[in-house]
Amino acid sequence: MKALVLGASGQIGAYAVQDLVEMCGVKDIVASSRKVVNVKKAMGDLKLDKKVKMMELDARDTDMVLKTIRSEKVDAVVNCAWYQTNLGVMDACLKGGAAYTDLGGFFDTCLKQIDLHKKWEDAGINATIGLGSTPGMTNIAGAAGAKKLDTVDSIDIVCSWGNTLPVKEAGWPGYSIRTVLDEFTQQSVQWVNGKYEKQQILGGEKEVVMPDPIGKIKCYFIKHSEPATMGKYLKAKNVTFRIGFPPQDMNTFLTLRALGFADEKPLDAGGCKVSPLDYLTAMYQRGVSQGRETPPKEEFEYDMFRIDCAGKKAGMPMTVTYYIVTWNDPKRNASSARDTAVPPAIVSHWQMTKRIKAPGVFPAEATVEPEAFFKELGKRKIKVDEVVTTAQKFY
Ligand SMILES: NC(=O)c1ccc[n+]([C@@H]2O[C@H](COP(=O)([O-])OP(=O)(O)OC[C@H]3O[C@@H](n4cnc5c(N)ncnc54)[C@H](OP(=O)(O)O)[C@@H]3O)[C@@H](O)[C@H]2O)c1
Repeated sequence: MKALVLGASGQIGAYAVQDLVEMCGVKDIVASSRKVVNVKKAMGDLKLDKKVKMMELDARDTDMVLKTIRSEKVDAVVNCAWYQTNLGVMDACLKGGAAYTDLGGFFDTCLKQIDLHKKWEDAGINATIGLGSTPGMTNIAGAAGAKKLDTVDSIDIVCSWGNTLPVKEAGWPGYSIRTVLDEFTQQSVQWVNGKYEKQQILGGEKEVVMPDPIGKIKCYFIKHSEPATMGKYLKAKNVTFRIGFPPQDMNTFLTLRALGFADEKPLDAGGCKVSPLDYLTAMYQRGVSQGRETPPKEEFEYDMFRIDCAGKKAGMPMTVTYYIVTWNDPKRNASSARDTAVPPAIVSHWQMTKRIKAPGVFPAEATVEPEAFFKELGKRKIKVDEVVTTAQKFY
């Protein structure tokens, strides 16, 4: 049972390795990224450097990924590098016969990945894609809700985060700053009345109630892959995705967008040519790495998700709501961002043990058994609560 983790130096990749080793009990792991020095630093900070093999591997180099799959006899690949690498890595896995999982394809790439289904089915290999917190846990919660309903009218997803710091400074982005800026600059697509419908960036303003300490929060549409797949796979009429970040974080990201930090075109800065996005990414990667060096001693930051599945059961209206809450875990030196790293680790482990083996390319809602998955999350202090509302007639 051998796993190859790509992007293992990243905010999510490092925790995915940690979960594979400490919680899934996988003994053979290759942890890699474009710079081995970054992997060594990340693994060292999490005290995993003696437990895994570390190497330099660029996920864009499909031939090298395939060579590594073959030479290391890899059974499953967990792709935690940026999503632009997904298609190339899948190609290497298909040729090398390794199962595949990743953290999501940000709508368009996700659909291109699903289009590869037949090839994977013919090869007899499983790829379960979009396995983070969102997409990932959110898709699986949607599947759990849909299972309890006869017909599904809507699945509405809200993602939020925050911290309890006394100074209300902006929180640290819970995931790649590159993806955050993609979300703030690309038109969203929602699943409305059984069809994809383009929406304004940050349109669809709505107030929702999240668990404490968030309470009521305003949330907005952004582009995400849940509406790309869940409507079709769960036969839901409507699927929407909104973020409800704390106002100071929303303002920070809007300011970065207004200043042009999402721009990939190189700029002359003090004689160096660098794009604002690459520069911002490098600063973010430095911050992630520094954060792992000095683990916090208490719980102070959290991620929260709310998934409302509404429909009919025996002809009556019924709603199934999931609240998923994760605080940072000081004991294991794992931030709340582990909620994105744990799902691909669990699924990769299940692929290696053939618990997930359906040949083809699937989104998480199609292959992952919700209740068993939620129990695994519970072992990592990622808490899932289910609230069911039913109706009754007295006439
Ligand atoms: N589904 C979800 O819930 C969810 C949540 C968060 C993030 N994500 C997605 O997951 C991806 C990673 O997020 P993150 O927050 O971990 O980002 P991150 O901290 O920036 O980490 C990405 C890591 O990938 C490595 N990398 C980049 N390009 C690579 C390549 N070509 N080959 C190998 N390694 C490469 C980088 O390390 P080196 O510089 O050392 O190569 C970096 O450390 C993003 O696409 C993000 O959108 C999904």
